[in-house]
Amino acid sequence: MIADTPMAYVESLEAARRQTETQWQVRAAAMSGEGSITLVADAGEDGSKLCGLMRVVLKHPQNPEKPVQAVLISVYVAPEHRGLGLADELLNESCKAAAEELRAERIELGVHEENVRALAFYRRHGFEATGASRPYPQDTSKLELVMERHLP
Ligand SMILES: CC(C)(COP(=O)(O)OP(=O)(O)OC[C@H]1O[C@@H](n2cnc3c(N)ncnc32)[C@H](O)[C@@H]1OP(=O)(O)O)[C@@H](O)C(=O)NCCC(=O)NCCS
Repeated sequence: MIADTPMAYVESLEAARRQTETQWQVRAAAMSGEGSITLVADAGEDGSKLCGLMRVVLKHPQNPEKPVQAVLISVYVAPEHRGLGLADELLNESCKAAAEELRAERIELGVHEENVRALAFYRRHGFEATGASRPYPQDTSKLELVMERHLP
């Protein structure tokens, strides 16, 4: 994922490669906890051929006073599956899970300002720029734009 589209992720390939097996297991355990849903599309009988991945997590899991909001992260569809509807299916299911399982009213995401394909994809799915942005961690001369949409 990171090697394929470095600007899509906040972690560098080098940093990801430095993670030990134990660190990956800790991350996976954190991601499978309450307030986090991972959707995976795979084509291998043993789940080894990753076709697509998206995650939704709660933005403020510890703060019941804030409106319930979800964040979309880890968005990836393998090159051979792009433009064929798999990304649409994963995003629709992610939004559904955020609304129905996390009870979120809105969903937001961060996208690199030059990731034109992702920007077009999110706009087609009703996401709009909030006007907020932050420096992109791997290259602070570029911006990560915040987009969001209501959930039904
Ligand atoms: C972002 C991603 C999930 C979108 O999935 P997809 O199957 O490629 O999406 P689609 O083809 O349905 O839609 C992409 C849109 O970009 C357009 N597009 C395709 N190639 C493009 C290009 N080179 N430049 C600009 N726009 C492009 C398509 O026409 C389409 O526009 P439309 O919705 O107005 O018709 C997928 O491309 C991906 O995994 N990219 C690498 C990882 C990544 O960037 N993740 C996002 C991190 S925020």
